[in-house]
Amino acid sequence: MDFYVMTLFPEMVEQALSTSITGRAMENGIISLNAVNIRDYTKDRHRKVDDYTYGGGAGMLMTPQPVYDCYRAVTEKINTGRLPELSELEEIDSIPEKSPEKRVRCVYLTPQGEVFNQEKAKELAREESLILLCGHYEGIDERVLEEIVTDNISIGDYVLTGGELAAMVVCDAVSRMVPGVLTNEMSGVGESFEGGLLEYPQYTRPENWMGKSVPPILVSGDHAKVDKWRYEQSVERTKIRRPDLYKAFSDGM
Ligand code: 6GU
Repeated sequence: MDFYVMTLFPEMVEQALSTSITGRAMENGIISLNAVNIRDYTKDRHRKVDDYTYGGGAGMLMTPQPVYDCYRAVTEKINTGRLPELSELEEIDSIPEKSPEKRVRCVYLTPQGEVFNQEKAKELAREESLILLCGHYEGIDERVLEEIVTDNISIGDYVLTGGELAAMVVCDAVSRMVPGVLTNEMSGVGESFEGGLLEYPQYTRPENWMGKSVPPILVSGDHAKVDKWRYEQSVERTKIRRPDLYKAFSDGM
């Protein structure tokens, strides 16, 4: 899976994803990350990428030109393996004549998007390449979004200062659903949201800690009993902590 993140803060995204599990997946060539600086594609003499909004109101908006040219450079990289500079873009056609279904998906991170979840992570993990577009300031001119965006995704009902943290969240959650990123021991089976339930509580050594013992069933060696106990704990925990998930779960039984 190849991630292309269009952002004004490429270092921020690179830093976060080059650590730990995603970092190792990159070293192993299972995923790749290309964070591309939208500012490198502005035609403004002062490298400006934002301007006032028509109709007035607070804040600045990202202008369409740098975003569109950055997008053209990224699609060129996906098609040819080489990322062109702004000066080289003139000789390159606009969006290559591909039907919207065949185009590489371009996800705009926005609080106005569909709320991200595990299902969406699994769906996106089936793509070969994914473009993520991060907005800043008050957002991006609507016209360029209409041209390039295929999916609008929010990571929850609150507002962030920019799309980068949301893009990192999406890249992380999608990456771990790409075959080979998680080892067998870490594999997603049994984890939270599998089967619409939260995960059961877990324990490691020591067996007694601060006067608290590990639930005896877990040290009984009876695997069938352990499985049953864990399932019941999952159900109970979901009921208490996430009544919304529990309702969907019990409605579907
Ligand atoms: Cl994707 N972007 C921003 N700026 N704020 C958000 C968000 C995204 N998702 C939730 N809040």
